[in-house]
Amino acid sequence: MEKTTVKRENWGSRIGFIMAAAGSAVGLGNIWRFPYLLGENGGAAFLLIYLAFVVFIGVSVMTAEFAVGRKSSRAAVGAFKNHDKRWTFAGVIGVLSAFFIMGFYPVVGGWSAAYVVKSVTGLLADPEAIGGAFGAFISGSTQPLVWMLVFMILNVVIVAKGIAGGIEKAGKVLMPVLFGLLILIAVRSLTLPGAAAGLVYMFKPDFSVVTGQTFLAALGQAFFSLSLGMGCMITYGSYLNKQENLANNAALVTGMDLGVALLAGVAMFPAIFAFGMEPAVGPGLVFVVIPSVFAAMGGIGTLLSVIFFVALTVAALTSSVSLMEVAVSYFIDERGMERKKAVYSTAGAMSVLCVLSSLSMGVMSGVTVLGVGFFDFFDILTDKIFLAIGGLLLAVFVGWFLDKEELRQELTNGGTIKFGLFEGWYFLIKYVIPVAVAIVAIAGIRSIEQ
Ligand code: PHE
Repeated sequence: MEKTTVKRENWGSRIGFIMAAAGSAVGLGNIWRFPYLLGENGGAAFLLIYLAFVVFIGVSVMTAEFAVGRKSSRAAVGAFKNHDKRWTFAGVIGVLSAFFIMGFYPVVGGWSAAYVVKSVTGLLADPEAIGGAFGAFISGSTQPLVWMLVFMILNVVIVAKGIAGGIEKAGKVLMPVLFGLLILIAVRSLTLPGAAAGLVYMFKPDFSVVTGQTFLAALGQAFFSLSLGMGCMITYGSYLNKQENLANNAALVTGMDLGVALLAGVAMFPAIFAFGMEPAVGPGLVFVVIPSVFAAMGGIGTLLSVIFFVALTVAALTSSVSLMEVAVSYFIDERGMERKKAVYSTAGAMSVLCVLSSLSMGVMSGVTVLGVGFFDFFDILTDKIFLAIGGLLLAVFVGWFLDKEELRQELTNGGTIKFGLFEGWYFLIKYVIPVAVAIVAIAGIRSIEQ
């Protein structure tokens, strides 16, 4: 095991680490993105494929990222580079992914923050107009940009200070609130007349709609939602103490992430069908369906809507700070930059990308890269290409370039705990995952081209 000269920080407690890792994983990916992807990709068939990827690929890759991080005590780039200089590029791809995801994520974070205010300023008064209001809002030029900047500044404040204090505390309170609210919305949604059709849509697979793209969308979403394939969990693992059971923690974080995504689906689809809405509306789904459900609740709906969007904004924030941290820690560790300076320049560059993304919903909708606007371009580039490549590289690195016995030591904490599934995990990482990810990525990218 490598010795580090500087004493590195550790997470304060097991629960602190779990909350931070879960905070990174649970975000817009679960509540904003997962339901609309499900809607666009035909419902239950997508769900089944997604489940398989999460169970067979997600948990194993997360375990591997934790192991690489803790073993090297280094963030994304350093963890690769310190082992073998030729692997530096794998970490750098992760940093690039962080930039591009942060080129659209704060735009959506801004929408969510805006909806806190809109919930009290009349959004729910006219249920019929909720859909149109969302379209008008995001295609505007000033409002969404202002909200994006608000969200970005929150990130800057937190990341400049280090993550522990504010965000961890806010997450500890607001994550359970979000969870509770989703349960409440799910109950309301399930008791609307006509709700059953939503459950059928979510849980009764129709494989006729499955294409190579469905698999790629599900794989990309698994990596995106679990914060994998870009070094984030390597970084978080690097602060983990030697007593923690890595595989168990990975399973727990994955379970929580999956739970929130499923709950978000059950909260939304029954309502979508009960209100006779279209499931395949894309990125507007949560911003239209949730306010509609709340509008149908009368007076208390306004209050719940405010709480929901506050909680969603916080969930987004606990994820976006982890993304920003990947880029910032690169400039600090590898480029010797001072933290504040790294934060400001990183946030500045990310804001420029976000301006392009946000305006691509409106005035710049005519400007396209490879046939899509900036928002979609950053989204597709990261989750369909970069994260899959990042996950593939990580699996090859761990399976073929790290020593098997050292890995066993790392995952059993030097033989003090059991990891009965070690051989199975190793086989998945070494053979199955690289091949599976490569096939899905190639088939998916080809079907995009067609
Ligand atoms: N997992 C986060 C979400 O679901 C997004 C994210 C991706 C965060 C990659 C960190 C790294 O919203």
